[in-house]
Amino acid sequence: MAKYIIRQSLSLTGEVAISGSKNAVLPIMAAALLTDARCEITDVPALRDVDVMCGLMRGIGARVNERYGDRTIEITTEAIASEEAPNELVKKMRASILVMGPLLARTGRARIALPGGCAIGTRPIDLHLKGLKALGARIVSKDGYVIAAAERLRGANVYLDSPSVGATENITMAAALAEGTTVIENAAEEPEIVDMVNFLNKMGARIKGAGTNTIRIEGVARLGGAKHGVIPDRIETGTFMIAAAVTRGKVLIRNAVPDHVKPVTAKLGECGVDVRALDDGLIVDARHGVLRATDIKTLPYPGFPTDIQSQFMAFLTTVRGSSVVTENVFENRYMHVNELNRMGANIKIEGRVAIVEGERLLRGAEVFATDLRAGAALVLAGLSARGTTRISEIHHIERGYSAFVEKLKGLGADIVRAEE
Ligand code: UD1
Repeated sequence: MAKYIIRQSLSLTGEVAISGSKNAVLPIMAAALLTDARCEITDVPALRDVDVMCGLMRGIGARVNERYGDRTIEITTEAIASEEAPNELVKKMRASILVMGPLLARTGRARIALPGGCAIGTRPIDLHLKGLKALGARIVSKDGYVIAAAERLRGANVYLDSPSVGATENITMAAALAEGTTVIENAAEEPEIVDMVNFLNKMGARIKGAGTNTIRIEGVARLGGAKHGVIPDRIETGTFMIAAAVTRGKVLIRNAVPDHVKPVTAKLGECGVDVRALDDGLIVDARHGVLRATDIKTLPYPGFPTDIQSQFMAFLTTVRGSSVVTENVFENRYMHVNELNRMGANIKIEGRVAIVEGERLLRGAEVFATDLRAGAALVLAGLSARGTTRISEIHHIERGYSAFVEKLKGLGADIVRAEE
């Protein structure tokens, strides 16, 4: 089984380039199902989740040509061969649910296995279904599958009880080909939604308001092909910002959008880390002074991202004072806490709140990645810990970080991927 073996690596230094966003490329690939014309997506990250999505799309009938050499994927879906998202792929990746809206809009039918993915809470899909129902779809659940059907989708007003990223994306894609106007209220505002909508508008969709909490979609009769470059990954950016901080190093992060990581910049600043925004990236310098504790609360964008909570917590174990972390987005996202405590951290959980006692001298241990971001947190803790850390179940980490080991090595980290 593959493991990461990490030895203490203080003061990471140098330059790292961020890859395209996982959470943007997946809905963009799904959106390509809305047309029979050729779509070309560039700046695609080389990730397990992208491979899974390619497999899923092929199962549906798309011709998918991966040219990872130049980070490009071409997708042409002349005809839908199957409106079913195969169970074994859906179970691997929750984002598979994103093909539901496009399939329903294009063929009037979608049959999707209930999704898997990271085990971070119940993660229902009621809001996706509520939106598709409002557009006129009939929905039935049977034997672990959801079947949606509609002769023609019609525009409607949809109010989301909470601003779900995936539901906003699914409903927007379906509404792009519906008859009439759809307004999504309390929509999610994440940059990945803006990127997907930019792609849809290049295909000929008429969508306004992405990036705000109200998205207005004028349905069109057909969409064409488009070429689109994916935005940089803000979660990978945040992870490397914290890698610089946790090792008390200085890292230049290229191909990043400073506006997308403002909460991480602000919180690192409160701890005493110097973060400077550049035109296409950031410099994070944690070499000077004593770093101090701070509190974080995860929230939908533009709040502090839940996807960076675990990595930030690993960092907080190393600073002076105690910090309070509140996870408001997912109810079961503290699975890294046990593992961090095994490395010498002192973190207590009470419901949605974790109290982190700082200035712990972490020590290497045998730990395992329970999900993607929890795994990243263990890597960061391992860089700071004395001795050797061995992380198993790294397939979770490889779902979402492109060339993670190589990029960290480029900054001076002592990390290897080994088959044991
Ligand atoms: C996306 C991201 C994920 C990130 C999350 C929150 C992708 C591929 N994944 O996931 O990395 O952690 O946003 O920023 O983009 N909910 C419901 N009913 C629904 C849908 C969601 O109650 O129908 C709840 C979820 O259980 C969760 C919260 O809403 O508590 C947020 O989920 P959502 O925004 O939908 O996350 P995802 O789109 O799954």
